[in-house]
Amino acid sequence: MKIIFYEQHTDTDAWLRDFARELPEADVRVWQPGDTAHADYAVVWRAPRELFADRPDLKAVFNLGAGVDAILDVERKEPGTLPPNAMLVRLEDTGMAQQMVEYATYAVLRFMRRFDEYDEQQREGRWQKLPQHARKTFTVGVLGLGVLGAEVARSLVGLGVPVRGYSRTPKDIAGVAVYAGPEQFDAFLDGAKVLINLLPHTPDTEGILNARAFGRLARGAYLVNVARGPHVVDADLLAALDSGQLSHAMLDVFHAEPLPADHPFWRHSRVSVTPHISAETLREESVVQIAAKIRALARGEAISGVVDFKRGY
Ligand code: NAP
Ligand code: GLV
Repeated sequence: MKIIFYEQHTDTDAWLRDFARELPEADVRVWQPGDTAHADYAVVWRAPRELFADRPDLKAVFNLGAGVDAILDVERKEPGTLPPNAMLVRLEDTGMAQQMVEYATYAVLRFMRRFDEYDEQQREGRWQKLPQHARKTFTVGVLGLGVLGAEVARSLVGLGVPVRGYSRTPKDIAGVAVYAGPEQFDAFLDGAKVLINLLPHTPDTEGILNARAFGRLARGAYLVNVARGPHVVDADLLAALDSGQLSHAMLDVFHAEPLPADHPFWRHSRVSVTPHISAETLREESVVQIAAKIRALARGEAISGVVDFKRGY
């Protein structure tokens, strides 16, 4: 079996070593421009269009991340980019859920215990105790209850705060008040104190974090965006921060990455920026999952994590 691999910003040799260990029967090669030789599978992150050209034999494309928006965007703009018979498969958890839980827990504790404000007070040399937020009304809403969002929501229940979740279809998660579909979106948002975004970026979810949504949250609410930059209308977020409707935004993802040097988020005192690190792709876990799925496909079995092109995730 032949596999082509493409990921520009990684230790490629380490990936090849891990594939050789997990899938010794496979011949895995790094794809280079001009390589049109046969391949059964592609393992890629942000691959150029040329990699997919003239590959009717390709059975599956494994995306080295949970979000497939970049690859679907190319397919939407240039239909036929992906080989017609190849399924697109995304990573499912592979250690990302734990990282998201850590990021979300840190954010909720930081805001609930007002550590962001104490940081500011320290910079001003000010010693002042602030009244604690009441845990029972410090409602956290998690947008997206998939592989990552469900785990984040479940873990936040353990902090003793009220937890809400929002998804397209109803879910049953112990301790989480679940809202589903656009008709329940406003009820999900109403009065929430922290909004954590873990939606996929699709035409339906683009711009969902806008003035209208911010206006339904509790006054002085907090935003945590760990999904994709285009979910946020940046100008609306800045206006909500400046008006006091939002107290702070913790942002890991942006419309353009790296975040351009002149973007106001860099210097806003109530915006925290991290460079798309909330949940990184872990090599060993990813190789184990992809190898297991390739073996299952070879046995003619169905696999999970196959992207539904119509839904967009
Ligand atoms: P997932 O398992 O596909 O879950 C997506 C969730 O969003 C599902 O619960 C889905 O509802 C819900 N959803 C989709 N469209 C919706 C809509 N229009 N309205 C309401 N709910 C909607 O995805 P995942 O593995 O949890 O990952 C989520 C996203 O996190 C990825 O797409 C990626 O963009 C982002 N991510 C970011 C990083 C980072 O480092 N910043 C790392 C990994 C992932 P249903 O359950 O009803 O289908
Ligand atoms: C990272 O952003 C991912 O989608 O896995």
